[in-house]
Amino acid sequence: MTMEMSTNESLIGRAELDDLEAILAVSNTDRDAQVRTVADHADAIFTWDYEKGERPALNKLYEKAKVSMWNGETDLPWDTEVDQEEVARNNAVLVGGFGDADLSHTPFANWADKEWTELGMEFQNWSLSQFMHGEQGALICTAKIVETVPWIDAKYYASTQVMDEARHVEVFARYLDTKLSGHYPINAHLGMLLDDIVQDSRWDMTYLGMQIMVEGLALAAFGFMHQMTTEPLLKKLLRYVMSDEARHVAFGVLSLKEHYAELSAPELRERQEFAFEAAVRMRDRFMQQEVWERMGLNPKDVLPLLIENPNRQLFQQMLFTKIVPNCKKLGLLDANDKWLRHKFEELGVIEFEDLTDTSDEYEAFALGNAELSESTASLTA
Ligand SMILES: [Fe+2]
Ligand SMILES: [Fe+2]
Repeated sequence: MTMEMSTNESLIGRAELDDLEAILAVSNTDRDAQVRTVADHADAIFTWDYEKGERPALNKLYEKAKVSMWNGETDLPWDTEVDQEEVARNNAVLVGGFGDADLSHTPFANWADKEWTELGMEFQNWSLSQFMHGEQGALICTAKIVETVPWIDAKYYASTQVMDEARHVEVFARYLDTKLSGHYPINAHLGMLLDDIVQDSRWDMTYLGMQIMVEGLALAAFGFMHQMTTEPLLKKLLRYVMSDEARHVAFGVLSLKEHYAELSAPELRERQEFAFEAAVRMRDRFMQQEVWERMGLNPKDVLPLLIENPNRQLFQQMLFTKIVPNCKKLGLLDANDKWLRHKFEELGVIEFEDLTDTSDEYEAFALGNAELSESTASLTA
């Protein structure tokens, strides 16, 4: 018997992945709210099994986290002068990503350097705002994992991640406030995804949504930005955040690997569908519809150009370089007649399946002693 898998309509609210009307119909309705309340539907689990190191890989990660803490106040050179306009000009490649496409019959036909620079600045304000909101999502999800995961080694590790995420929110917020020129509210697609992750009552869904999907994407995106940016403070900030993120993604892979080995086909099916839904939401958010609006353009005129542009397609695919191998490692690609494999084919990202997964890549991302605060470095020595 083949299992009934949900359709695109029921999972993401549209049949065609590139249905622009449907993507743009989702927009942020509570732009001015000070808080957002989401029910998290979860039981807090006490465990009476205090045996530390029963899961050696998680224990190792926990010990590593203890000696890898850095201080966002003192380890980053906040006195760096940032000329955002200059940065936007240097990072043009990051912006529209149109490359040398012919734009003569498009809304960009009359754009001069001034508009492109402005777009670059808005793009940066928007990107870092979304990363900041995503970091808060990670803070909340990881605090939830401390409560809900039944294993003591995982509770210990998750508690270190809570501290890491607080630091990430802090440094992105400070960078936005003191070095850039404006905030954006959370993108509606990212908001929907974070709500879905937080609302799910099952502890492993928090990990799948956050550690595997959101943080897997963040690790790839931070890596790309880190490579491209010419601004030394942001470069260093990203380097530090990535050293933590690599551990977080490893935490997800190591925890779920054990759990998913025990799940039935219908249970795996729900995880596959959730992973696909998350992938689409994240892809939708990178349409950055709010930026086009702020630039006075109609996103409907711009998005078809983006979707067809080969540079843009490469950028979008790059975001999945960590997610796909990690899903493969977890057995999610090929369960239930290769359902998720086919979906990743539809998204055009399956070619990354054999890249290194992130279960031990964190060693390569770790900061050296010279990069850590003196107090922390003395612990690792
Ligand atoms: Fe983070
Ligand atoms: Fe993280």
